[in-house]
Formats: sequence, C-alpha cells, structure tokens
Amino acid sequence: MLVVQKSTKKESARTLTLSDNTTGKSFELPIINGTLGPSVIDVRRLYVETGMFTYDPGYTSTGSAESAITYIDGENGVLLHRGYAIEDLAKHSNFLEVSYLLLYGKLPNVEENKKFTHDVTYHSMLNEQVTYFLRGFRRDAHPMAIMLGVVGALSAFYHDNIDINDPRQRDITEHRLLAKMPTIAAMAYKYSIGQPFIYPRNDLSYAENFLHMMFAVPAEEYVVSPTLVRAIDRLFILHADHEQNASTSTVRLAGSSGANPFACIAAGMASLWGPAHGGANEAVVRMLQEIGSIERIPEFVRRAKDKDDPFRLMGFGHRVYKNYDPRATVMRQSAHEVLEELGSRDEPLLKLAIELEQIALGDTYFIERKLFPNVDFYSGIILRAMGIPTDLFTVLFAVARTVGWLAQWDEMIADPAQKIGRPRQLYTGPAERKFIPIEKR
Ligand code: SDX
Repeated sequence: MLVVQKSTKKESARTLTLSDNTTGKSFELPIINGTLGPSVIDVRRLYVETGMFTYDPGYTSTGSAESAITYIDGENGVLLHRGYAIEDLAKHSNFLEVSYLLLYGKLPNVEENKKFTHDVTYHSMLNEQVTYFLRGFRRDAHPMAIMLGVVGALSAFYHDNIDINDPRQRDITEHRLLAKMPTIAAMAYKYSIGQPFIYPRNDLSYAENFLHMMFAVPAEEYVVSPTLVRAIDRLFILHADHEQNASTSTVRLAGSSGANPFACIAAGMASLWGPAHGGANEAVVRMLQEIGSIERIPEFVRRAKDKDDPFRLMGFGHRVYKNYDPRATVMRQSAHEVLEELGSRDEPLLKLAIELEQIALGDTYFIERKLFPNVDFYSGIILRAMGIPTDLFTVLFAVARTVGWLAQWDEMIADPAQKIGRPRQLYTGPAERKFIPIEKR
C-alpha cells in the first residue's frame, strides 16, 4: 500500500502582488514553499479574481503538481529520489529496491524487499493470448510501436478489476506492469529476429531475467554475464523517474480522467518515443554513426549552431539541467567500465562521443546556453556494446521509466486534491462570423 507521506507543503504568509496598470487593480497571490527548490505562486484563483489566465507554452515556469517523489536542482546537477542522491542509488542499490523507494517512499527492509521481489517476479509472465498481438505486426515493426500496442492492449486483460480508487488494486496493477515490461520488451526483440519467445524465470533477478529473455535460445543453456546484469540494472536505475517530464506529465494527464492505468502508461510511452525526449538515445548513436570520424565533428557542431539547420546535437541540452545531468556522469563512467570488461575499450563511438563532448563544452554557443550532455548521450553506447539493437534503446528507457510513471500516477490518484487536468489557452483565431452557403463563397 502506498505510504502517503505527510506533505511538507507550507502555506506562507508571503504573497505576490500583481497590479494591472490599465485598471489600477491589484491582486494578492499566495506563495507556497516546498521542502527544496523554488517556491510556487498559487494561481488557482487567478482567473476567478482577474478574469485572466497564465500563459506558459511548454510549461517552462509552471508547476503542474505537488510531488514528493523526485527532486531536480538543474543549476547544480542534483537528482534525488525520495531524498536519496542518484549517484548513491546507482552505486549502492539495485533497480527493484529503487522501484520500491519510488512507489512507497522509503528503502525496503529485508522482509519488505523479499516480498516485493517475490510479488514482481511472480507477475512477469504474460497471458499467452498476448503472443497473438505480436504476431500481427510485421517483423520489421519498430519495437516501440509493438510495446505501445501490447501495453495498451493489456487494459483489455485486466479491465474488470481496476478500481483505481482502491490502493490494493493500484498496487497489483503496479506490480503487474513493472513485472511485465521486460517480458514484452524481450518478446518484441525476439519477434524482430525471428527467434522463439523465451519465458521469464523465477530464479533470476529482474535484470538477469530481462537479459536471459533477450539473448537465451531454447537450443542451449544461456548464462547471463554479471557485467551485463550490473550495467543494465544501473541503467534502469538511472532512467527510473525524473519529475514532471513530458512522458510523466502525459501519464498524469491521461490518468486524471480516471482512465485505465495500462492505457495511461501506453500514452506515456508514446510521448517518450519522441527524439526530443526518450527517443534521443537512439538518435545519439545514429548521429555518432553519421559523424563517423573525429575530423567531421566541427562540421556537425557548426550545423547544431546554425538556426537554419534543424540538426541538433542529440543527447545535449535539457529543459531543467543547466549543468551536467548527474545521470550522464554516472553513465559515462559505466560506459568505460562496460566497454573495458567487454573488451571493446576501443569502441570508436565512445571515442567520438568523448571528443564531441569536449569540443561542444569548449564552444561558447553551448556554454552560453548551458547545454551539457544529458542521460541519453552515453546510454546508447553502453547498450550497443551489450548487443542491444539501436531501435530497442527507447524500449529500455520505457521499461525503466514505467516505475516512475506508476509512482507519479499513484501519487496523483491518491491525492485528495486531484482534479481532471484541463489547461486553458490564448485564443487567436477568428471572432464569431456568419456561415456562408457554398454557392456564395
Ligand atoms: C530526456 O525533461 C526530462 O526530464 C527529460 C529526461 C527524462 O529523464 O525524462 O531527462 C529525458 O528527454 C533528455 C533530453 C533528450 N533530448 C535530446 O538530447 C535532444 C536534443 N536536445 C534538445 O532537443 C533540447 O535540448 C531539449 C528538447 C532537451 C530541451 O529543449 P528546451 O528546454 O525547449 O530548450 P530550447 O529548445 O529552448 O533551447 C534553448 C537554446 C535554443 O537556442 P536559442 O534559440 O536560444 O538560440 O539552446 C539550443 C536551442 O536551439 N539548443 C540546442 C540543443 N538543445 C537546445 N542547440 C543544439 N543542440 C541541442 N541539442
């Protein structure tokens, strides 16, 4: 059951006064403080009192929710999950333990960890009917398209027992999705290469099970490399949650209408797929392959700076981080370790990425705009070294981010103040006009 922590939200005596220089009226808006980070101006009564909306396309300065799950300090490159630094979690924890932390607000003790691991492990199989969904796709279908279709279709399998207002049923749904995502991801991969699906095994850990389903074949025993297990588990941790990013906001908005949680997670996956978001890890590797050599880096840096060229340096820049994305720092270290252990220390793409990072970070365009490598810049290099195909990179991001989406969804549903999300707009279309019959147009 979700531990609903007491909000640290503090109504303050502090207010912001707005004065309208046309009407001479002024309005007092309350300011609310959280535990960390910027305070917020409570504009919930703005329209009632002023008859005006706020206007913030892309929500660059808008808080859409109160949350106790993740905190990012973009200026200083800090990422906390329920108060624990991502660097500590990546170094000392494992993905299922971090999943428990995100869902329940605390690190599990031995008993809690054992039960949670058991519950997730024993939900990893899919209804056999799901295999018929996969067989309807072309073999060359993008695996994200397959994931979207299958995850959305799961709402057809569990629709009758989803009372989202019952915390126990939300819990079961969260265990089901957390457990089944690696199974679906591995099935999408096996389907694309024409190999038989490999069933999950209850004697393997979460990361081991995923790699086993990905790379085992019925014809022989497959022993998962501990190096790959550690690398993929760490990569899952680094992608687990990230405040109110585009895909998480999509899940919250879809969920705010009371929609089926499987359908909400599928909506989040659709948003994650975009190259400006989770699709960037796949785009980084394709960009590095297109650059091809260190000599061609200046040409691509020039293009990234050219306003007339739509090309952007994939894996660089972030809406919140105006410093190093701490996940990128851990990921770069992990890339060196994994490539070293896999004997691919001379991987040309890694050398290219390191050189590109150095050149970009020395360029005033990137310095002035505070554009640093983000989580996607190195992740693809690790995945490629592990034998994961490029078009499966965003799928792995989705597998990892599912727990973040679920924790944020649950927090929203459990919030008594929760309402359906319904933004307003600045209308700039035509004023009312008379209909003209076609013969007079
Ligand atoms: C993720 O939000 C999250 O938390 C997301 C995420 C998560 O964990 O959920 O962290 C995961 O999505 C990481 C981001 C992955 N995307 C990419 O790597 C794609 C490349 N990056 C850019 O598209 C861009 O940086 C964004 C989309 C990430 C952020 O865009 P913003 O915040 O809207 O910034 P912007 O477009 O307003 O850019 C500000 C300036 C612009 O130049 P000017 O108009 O001021 O002259 O910086 C430039 C941009 O042109 N710029 C870039 C650039 N990113 C921004 N120029 C070249 N290359 C880039 N990558």
